[in-house]
Amino acid sequence: MASLANPFSGNVPRKISKEELIQAIRLDIVGELEAIFVYDAHYQATDDPVAKKVLADIRDEEKAHVGELMTLLRHLDPEEAEHFAEGEEEVKEMLEELNITPPKASGKKPESTIGSLLEE
Ligand SMILES: [Fe+2]
Repeated sequence: MASLANPFSGNVPRKISKEELIQAIRLDIVGELEAIFVYDAHYQATDDPVAKKVLADIRDEEKAHVGELMTLLRHLDPEEAEHFAEGEEEVKEMLEELNITPPKASGKKPESTIGSLLEE
C-alpha cells in the first residue's frame, strides 16, 4: 500500500514491463481486498443507517473492482488464469462430493469491465 507520507511512492520513472504490470495488478487486487475488508468492518461497526448504506455501496463497488482486476489479470497472464480455473474446479468437485450446488453469479452484468471495453 502506498505511503501517504511520501507523495512520490507511486511514481515509476519508466514504463513497466508486462511482468511488472502483472505484479502491479496483483498488488492492486490486494489493495481492493483490503478496502473491502475495511469498509465492511466499518459497516459492521455502526448502526447509523445512512453510514451503513454508503459504506455498503462503496464496499460493493470495491468488489466489482476485484472482478475487473481479476479479468485483467486473466487477460494479461493466461497461464495464471489456468491455475485459477483449476482451483475453481477443485472446489466445485468438493461441493459436488458434499451434494452442495455451487453458487451462481447473479447474472447482473457490471456496467464496465475489461471484456466490455474490448467489445467496444
Ligand atoms: Fe477500488
